[in-house]
Amino acid sequence: VKPRYQSVPGTRDLFPALAERYAATERIAREVFQSYGYGEIRTPIFEHRELFARSVGETTDIVHKEMYEFEDRAGASGAGARLVLRPESTASVVRALVQRGLQEVPLPIRLWYAGPHFRRERPQKGRYREFRQIGVELFAPPSPAADAEVLTMLHRFLTAVGVPEPVLKINSLGTPVWRKRLADALREQLLPRASDLGEDDRRRLDVNPLRLFDSKDAAAQRLVAAAKLPALDDAARQYHDELLGLLAAAGVPFVEEPRLVRGLDYYTMTVFEVTSERLGAQNAILGGGRYDELVADLGGPVLSGMGFAIGQDRLIDAATGDPREAKTVFWVVPMSPAEFEYGLKACSELRRQYPEAVVELDLSGRGFKKGVARAAQIADSPETYAFKVADVRVAFIGPDERASGSLKIRDVKTREERTAPLSELRAGGRVP
Ligand code: HAM
Repeated sequence: VKPRYQSVPGTRDLFPALAERYAATERIAREVFQSYGYGEIRTPIFEHRELFARSVGETTDIVHKEMYEFEDRAGASGAGARLVLRPESTASVVRALVQRGLQEVPLPIRLWYAGPHFRRERPQKGRYREFRQIGVELFAPPSPAADAEVLTMLHRFLTAVGVPEPVLKINSLGTPVWRKRLADALREQLLPRASDLGEDDRRRLDVNPLRLFDSKDAAAQRLVAAAKLPALDDAARQYHDELLGLLAAAGVPFVEEPRLVRGLDYYTMTVFEVTSERLGAQNAILGGGRYDELVADLGGPVLSGMGFAIGQDRLIDAATGDPREAKTVFWVVPMSPAEFEYGLKACSELRRQYPEAVVELDLSGRGFKKGVARAAQIADSPETYAFKVADVRVAFIGPDERASGSLKIRDVKTREERTAPLSELRAGGRVP
């Protein structure tokens, strides 16, 4: 029968073998990003709703229908606050910087983060309601070099994690003036066909035509695909060409994708996504871009930002190889409860002398035979562990071992056995 308590649809439990893969990508992120000068930032899991409405945009799917919202209970001051679980972190990072004060801070500011985010989407493979992101935000004057640095670092990271042939799709959304021209062009061309559109898309056409690019409706997709887009203005074109030149020089492969607009409102100029052939329908491993106006929009000074967020769940699905370390397991078996005190001591000695190994105490105290059977299970179920099982050694503790202060160790695979004094388990140069 099905247990009474089930997890909420779209959320997942990560057991050790999988959790270790998450931890490994976070370790690589810390290493790679730190080597470029990025420091970690941790912001709250919940924020005021208004923060995301103002930045990501009221008309985006994320804000319009995917946020988990709740009313905080009213305090002494009266009305409660409208809070949301964070659907992304760029707005939170900008809020944190503006709140701290950006007056005296030397530029550039380089930050990275990792953690859970929440969107109420329809769950499917690669799409969760609680998902995890690893992200980066760079605050510096806008320049193709800044964008190139971020994208080169991203490429380094994906290579280090082992994503085979990631495809970087890149576009420029131009200046806000050009974006307005793009919106007008879409409105002009699509308005005569508005009756072909659903209610949601008609609203998009009216309020924020660029959001039509996110539409999942076939008719809307066809119309958008057929629409003629205005050419980028010269300044944006030159900026973008310079960036593409820097990427080519740095050996970062990319494809230009003129219709890539991204599902969040704050972007200006450079936008990009990385997809992988190894994923199914939800094939975007990550997305990002430049935001030249967000800091000022959220009450800060004129300061540009640029960054990306990787869907960690998709990253792990796309990556090949097993990042887990191979480890030796010592399975320490006290013959009976009378041997536990010596068993605990023996475990401490093993851990001291074999810091790279895993030392586990058999807590059953039900004799050697059962203990050995359990050790065989360890060797046979490597997927259960946070590490790969290189080999298993059983350490026996009976009255004899306790009396002589020694340990008998057997290699489960070779069945080789030896007895050594507790203080010199690793002595003699031979690593058992
Ligand atoms: P985003 O495109 O909304 O951008 O999300 C980035 C990535 O998060 C996606 O490409 C995807 O891999 C992952 N993701 C999003 N929703 C889900 C979900 N429901 N389940 C699993 N994975 C998901 C942002 O969030 C921006 N803050 C990125 C950014 C940073 N732009 C500038 N700086």
